[in-house]
Amino acid sequence: MDISIILAAGQGTRMKSKLPKVLHKVCGKPILEYVIGASKGAKIDKNIVIVGHGGDSIKEHFDSQPVVFKEQPVGANAPYGTGFAVMQAVDEIGDEDTVVILCGDTPLMTEDSIKTLLDYHKKNNLYGTVLTTLLDDASGYGRIKRDGNGNISKIVEDKDATDLEKEIKEINSGVYCFNGKILKMFLKRLDNNNAQNEYYITDIIGILKEEDYSLGACLIENQDEIHGVNSREQLSFSEKLMKERINKTHMSKGVTIIDPDNTYIEEDVNIGRDTIIYPGTHIEGNTRIGEDCILRGNTRILDSDIKNRVEIKSSVIENSTIEEDSTVGPNAHIRPGSHIGKCVKIGNFVEVKNSYIGDNSKSGHLAYIGDAKVGKNVNIGCGVIFVNYNGKEKLQTIVGDNAFIGSNSNLVAPVKVNDWGYIAAGSTITKEVEEGSLSVERASQTNIKGWVEKKGLKK
Ligand code: UD1
Ligand code: CA
Repeated sequence: MDISIILAAGQGTRMKSKLPKVLHKVCGKPILEYVIGASKGAKIDKNIVIVGHGGDSIKEHFDSQPVVFKEQPVGANAPYGTGFAVMQAVDEIGDEDTVVILCGDTPLMTEDSIKTLLDYHKKNNLYGTVLTTLLDDASGYGRIKRDGNGNISKIVEDKDATDLEKEIKEINSGVYCFNGKILKMFLKRLDNNNAQNEYYITDIIGILKEEDYSLGACLIENQDEIHGVNSREQLSFSEKLMKERINKTHMSKGVTIIDPDNTYIEEDVNIGRDTIIYPGTHIEGNTRIGEDCILRGNTRILDSDIKNRVEIKSSVIENSTIEEDSTVGPNAHIRPGSHIGKCVKIGNFVEVKNSYIGDNSKSGHLAYIGDAKVGKNVNIGCGVIFVNYNGKEKLQTIVGDNAFIGSNSNLVAPVKVNDWGYIAAGSTITKEVEEGSLSVERASQTNIKGWVEKKGLKK
C-alpha cells in the first residue's frame, strides 16, 4: 500500500502568528488542504497528518477529510524536528508499504510530482528517494550532496552546511519516498547532534547510504512547486505563484483575463468559456461563473452562481444566484440569500438582501430590497426602500408580477402589492394593495398663489 505522512506539527515561528502555519490561506484555501489534495490526487491510499502546535484547530478544520491524525508531543522540553515528527507515525507504517513524506507547508506541490516520485522510486527498486530541484538561491533549504558517481549520498541542512556546501544548487524539496520496513528500522538511528538540536528526517538518507541501500534523487524542473511557507513573505510569494497557476488554467480553458497580475480567483472557482474578466476582480469560495459573462473592474463575487451572459460592473455579490442575461451594478451589493432572475437589471447603488427577484424586473438606482419576493416585469423606482425591520424582527414583502413601485416609496413589511399594483411616488405603503389598483399615500399638494411676492422674497 502507498501511504503518505504529512508533517504539520511545526511551530511556524517565523510566521509570528496565532494561527498554525498550515492553516494560513493561499488563494482562499489553507496550505495544508493543498498538500492533502495533492496526496489524494496521487492515489495514495492512506494519508497520515502529524499535528502538534495548534493541532486541535487543524484537526477541527479537517474533520470531514479522510485522513489519520497522529499527535507529536510539543512543549519546551519535547524533542523536535521533521525526523521526530515522522517517528509519531511508525505504528501506521507496514513493512510492505511505500511511504511518501510530504511537508504540510508546501502548497504548490502537485499530484503529478508525487506520482513522478513514486514511479521513479518503484521503477528503480530504491529504498529511499528524494524529490529535488535546482535553485539559483538555495539559501534556507537542505542541499543534496552527491558522490563521485553522481549518486545522492547525504542531505546537509542550510544551518549545518559549510561555505562550500552552501554553493550547491540542488536542494531537498522536503518530499521523499521510502520503503516502509527500512524507514521504520532506521528512524531509530536518528539523533539531534546538529546546529538546531533537531531530529532531521533528512539524516535517513546519509544512514541508508552508509548501510548500502540503493538511493535516488528525482529531479523536477518546476521549482515553483517546492516553495515552502515559513514567513509572511513566503506566504505572499506562494499566493502569487498559485494565483498565476489558477489564472493560467482558466485562460487555457478559454476565459479572457485582461490583467492576470491583478485578478484574484480562488482555487475552487469554475468559469465558463468566453467570459471576460477585468482587473481588480476577486472571485472567491465556491463560485460558478457561466459562459460569455463580463465581470468589470473591482467586482467581488463570493460563493455564488452566476449564469451565462451576466454582466457585473464593480459590484459585490455574496452567496447568491444571478440568472442568465441579467446586469448588476455599478456599485450594487447583492447580499446572501438572493436569487436574481433572468434579464433583470440591478443598477447603481442598489442593495438586495435575501430576496427573490423575478425575470425582467428592474431596479435601476438607489434602492434597498430586503427580505422580499418580487415578481416578473416589476419596476422598482429610484430610492425605493423595502422597510423590512421593525427594530425586533425581519419581515417579508411580496410584490406581484407587473407591479410598479414609484420612486421614493417605502414598502413597510409585512405587506403585499398584488399583480399590476401601482404605487405612486413618495408613498409609504403599510396595507395590502389590490390587483390593478393605484395606491397613493401622501398629503395632496397645495399651491399658494403669489406667496413669494407677498413674503417680499422676489427682488
Ligand atoms: C525542511 C528540510 C529541508 C528542506 C525543506 C524543504 C529537514 C531537517 N529539513 O526544512 O532539507 O529543504 O524542508 O521545504 O527536514 N514539522 C513537524 N514537526 C517538527 C518540525 C517540523 O511536523 O518537529 C513540520 C513543519 O510543520 C513543516 C515541515 O515539517 O510543515 C517542515 O518543517 P520546517 O521546519 O519548515 O523545515 P525546513 O526548515 O523548511
Ligand atoms: Ca519549511
